[in-house]
Amino acid sequence: MKLELLEAQAHSTLAGASSSAQLAEAVTAVLGKRSPLALAHRELGALDPEGRRQAGRELHELRERLESLASARAAEIAAAERQAMLDADRLDLTEETSVASPIARGRLHLVTQTRRALEDVFVGMGFSVAEGPEAETDWYNFEALNIPPAHPARSMWDTFYLDLGQPESVVLRTHTSPVQVHLMEDTAPPIHAVIPGRCYRRETADARHLAVFHQVEGLVVDHDISFADLAGTIETFTNAYFGTDIHSRLRPAYFPFTEPSAEVEITCTICRGAGCRTCSGTGWIELAGCGMVDPAVFEAVGIDPTEWSGFAFGFGIDRCAQMRHGIADMRWLTENDVRFLRQF
Ligand code: DAH
Repeated sequence: MKLELLEAQAHSTLAGASSSAQLAEAVTAVLGKRSPLALAHRELGALDPEGRRQAGRELHELRERLESLASARAAEIAAAERQAMLDADRLDLTEETSVASPIARGRLHLVTQTRRALEDVFVGMGFSVAEGPEAETDWYNFEALNIPPAHPARSMWDTFYLDLGQPESVVLRTHTSPVQVHLMEDTAPPIHAVIPGRCYRRETADARHLAVFHQVEGLVVDHDISFADLAGTIETFTNAYFGTDIHSRLRPAYFPFTEPSAEVEITCTICRGAGCRTCSGTGWIELAGCGMVDPAVFEAVGIDPTEWSGFAFGFGIDRCAQMRHGIADMRWLTENDVRFLRQF
């Protein structure tokens, strides 16, 4: 057989192999003992010495070319097979997640959502939003709010004291009311502000109390502010946030920094007023304290109580969330059970 023809056939045999098994067969067919090449070798014996040397060299060179072609093809096939294996083994995360378990998108905690919703309602009523520190001196948390040292009203707030400065001089704020004092010190009236934030009380958690909780304080200081302005503001707020079918009421109460003072209560949404564990059987839930700013507070911050008057309130944010969403036990808000949190 003509060597060119033999070479051309060998090329197409090797090129046609597309797996390592096929290539092994092709190599045997092209270079093996029964290949045309081997046959051509055997035929050398029939030639004269000069022709044998010449043809022998050509056959040897042909074998070398075919061998290097075979090993190049082997490398190509190995690379392709490796890639196919990787493709097959690849963990398709997109498919996995979109079919079996979609990536859960996070969300704001219900308390944060509620804080924002409350801010929205008050901003809609013309209030601005302010903030204040969580660690306060005794003066801001108590004294400036007309609660002198050793005053019995201090027992209304079971206090965490920080180990700073004089003993019992720095506290974790027990309410957001001290920010009223900061605001009145820093800003000249008129003031119309709400102040959301975290508060701390040394309390055993139960269905409607947490040791770490949230309030939104409100403060209005202006000319000729009356209790009617306070009551109207509270009513407008409860209607906007809870809807008009929830009953709210103001009950006379005592707070050292307001006079007169009241508590805002709404019908317990867990039992619709019948009485349950959440409302301790009363049918009502206290949402806020409020009242007309006591002249002693104005005097503590240097505002003239004969010129200015005002009202203040402090709503429990967690309580609002609890009543709005019918959460029987407030502790669920802090247990971080996603089955609970995911509902909101
Ligand atoms: N700070 C009070 C508390 O946490 C609630 C409160 C009562 C706030 C009357 C006020 C207010 O602004 O005027 O118990």
